[in-house]
Amino acid sequence: MSKITDIRAHEVLDSRGNPTIEVKVTTQSGNGSAIVPSGASTGVHEALELRDGDKSRYGGKGVLKACANVNGPLKELLLGKDASDQKAVDEAMIGLDGTPNKSKMGANAILGVSIACARAGAAERGISLYKYLNMDAVTLPVPMMNILNGGKHADSGLDIQEFMIMPVGAPSFREALRTGAEIFHTLGGLLKDAGYSTTVGDEGGYAPKLAHQDMAIEFILKAVEVAGYKAGDDILIAMDPAASEFFDKDKGKYMFRVKGEMHEMSSADMIGFWNEWIAKYPIISIEDGLHEDDWAAWSDMTAQMGDKLQIVGDDFLVTSVERLKKAIEQKAANSILIKMNQIGTLSETIDAINLAHESGWTTVVSHRSGETEDTTLADLAVAMGPGQIKTGSLSRSDRVAKYNQLLRIEEELGDKAVFPGRKIFSQIKM
Ligand code: PGA
Ligand code: ZN
Repeated sequence: MSKITDIRAHEVLDSRGNPTIEVKVTTQSGNGSAIVPSGASTGVHEALELRDGDKSRYGGKGVLKACANVNGPLKELLLGKDASDQKAVDEAMIGLDGTPNKSKMGANAILGVSIACARAGAAERGISLYKYLNMDAVTLPVPMMNILNGGKHADSGLDIQEFMIMPVGAPSFREALRTGAEIFHTLGGLLKDAGYSTTVGDEGGYAPKLAHQDMAIEFILKAVEVAGYKAGDDILIAMDPAASEFFDKDKGKYMFRVKGEMHEMSSADMIGFWNEWIAKYPIISIEDGLHEDDWAAWSDMTAQMGDKLQIVGDDFLVTSVERLKKAIEQKAANSILIKMNQIGTLSETIDAINLAHESGWTTVVSHRSGETEDTTLADLAVAMGPGQIKTGSLSRSDRVAKYNQLLRIEEELGDKAVFPGRKIFSQIKM
């Protein structure tokens, strides 16, 4: 038993220079720390990220209230409790908060404590976090690498937020990472030669101002080829349009540019567009291709395309077991994005992953656009595998830190390490 002897939280900065919360849990025999990430294109159904709202500090984005909740009531609740009893710790915090969206304590406060407890438990046993979460874990995740940024993560003017590559043909995680980095650098060279900017967006992908969105995919496919790889074989494309961001609630239409021209599109038009794109390009995965409350259209899209495409719910499902259950019943997707801070505890995150896998769905463990040096999500992806990880491009330490942690894990696993590559999509006909 690792009795909690102290809990402390303070404010640190994330990759966008905004405050976020760091929590340290100390036990009789060790300690563990965690830093909580933060999104920009957040879903309306997410658990509440508590911010101070005091405009005199960080434009209202301070997290001193969340820190005070950790240093006061949450600490009082958990002192003397067993840090390694994750369920009991998380349930106690959920109980104390008492709201459906963790709005009293703040999901950021609760999640910081939840992860720091797991880290303290792992430290006490002297083992890596992924092993602490699952002693049998041997499978590395297949990465979705966001090498071209649009939407709310860049000022590139692209409606689609993320254009990602998946190195499914690689024999190991290490080789997948090399493949991704080579394509990323090749893409930079091609953009530069064509006169475009090679500055990067929030997740470390390039953010060129392209005339239309087909060009984004065409540049990526060219980079794949020039780097010496085969699209559709070594590399598959994944996308996150983050459609809630371009859905106009008043009009009830998607405001989406096709070939550079703005169109007011219905849900059926949007599905038609994705159908055309998957016929044209080697796309294996579309996340939030529809907005977060477009339930019937999600079911239509899954019925039409679910046998050839991974259809991922992010803002749509917000890592919530409740929403996931409904989506499984309604066959409204076949994959769920997993973001710990959308739900607010490690236990609830693990419940969502387990339910998805039991139901034959795939899972993608994901960062937020505002990240830090915390690498918990790399360990979680291995512990809960086989799965996929979405942790940005091949630049910026907040993104690369997770890839580097996966390299360490792969090395620690040695001969036992498994990289599933395209097998991850075995239920999907390609
Ligand atoms: P966010 O975006 O972290 O800004 O919400 C990531 C995503 O939509 O997957
Ligand atoms: Zn998303």
